[in-house]
Amino acid sequence: MKKLVPFLFIIGAVITINSCRRDNYQAICYGNDIQPILTRSCTNVGCHSVGSKAGGYAFTTYEGVIGAVMTGNAAKSELYKAIKGSHPEMPKEGTPLTRKEVNMIKAWIDFGAEDCASTLTVASNCDTVNVTYDSHIKPLMTSFCTGCHFAGGTSPTLDNYNGVKGAVNIGSFLPAVKHTGAKPMPQGGQKLSNCNLRKIDLWVQAGMPQ
Ligand code: HEC
Repeated sequence: MKKLVPFLFIIGAVITINSCRRDNYQAICYGNDIQPILTRSCTNVGCHSVGSKAGGYAFTTYEGVIGAVMTGNAAKSELYKAIKGSHPEMPKEGTPLTRKEVNMIKAWIDFGAEDCASTLTVASNCDTVNVTYDSHIKPLMTSFCTGCHFAGGTSPTLDNYNGVKGAVNIGSFLPAVKHTGAKPMPQGGQKLSNCNLRKIDLWVQAGMPQ
């Protein structure tokens, strides 16, 4: 019993952390939570509007904002670097973002900078029940990706579970399939269907079960 108690405590802590992760992840949506802050504080004419594009950035659309974001890594994202700290660089004029807003933007980026999956329109016959690597993701990779991304072919290797998981974790995979990064995939091909993108979102949200 003496040994069991700390053990159970650790298990409990891990479960709690994991479920928080998921809650956070789902709670912050680009359209509802992030864009209104940017619209208020960043997109004035002369700043990050479509016409002015100060510093090369327009923050009026998801595609524009994601250009200043390194998915999954707020600390390395221009957007977060500019607004964090007690003497933030941005907004250049006007009131700094509140601490809560800054933290929310950080969490949004760290959890994948998603345009919420729920905003994708998906065909009613799209199978999104218990999405796992073996049942849903692997067939998708085989159809659209492994022709180039096999071991010894183009990096990242996407013909096995750890390869795909690794690509998601380093932050290159989601921007590639969602066409929000510099290297839209499949290269030279059509963007995956909303149904397939939804499967990928749900799989990542669920912690990438094998
Ligand atoms: C026709 C060949 C081809 C297909 C099919 C293809 N890719 Fe790629 N992929 C490439 C090449 C080539 C690169 C390297 C591009 C570069 O570095 O400029 C690449 C790079 C990538 C990268 C790294 C991007 C980065 O930012 O470094 C990811 C992730 C990726 N592909 C995912 C996928 C996924 C997922 C699919 C299937 C949905 C896919 N690719 C289908 C050729 C392909």
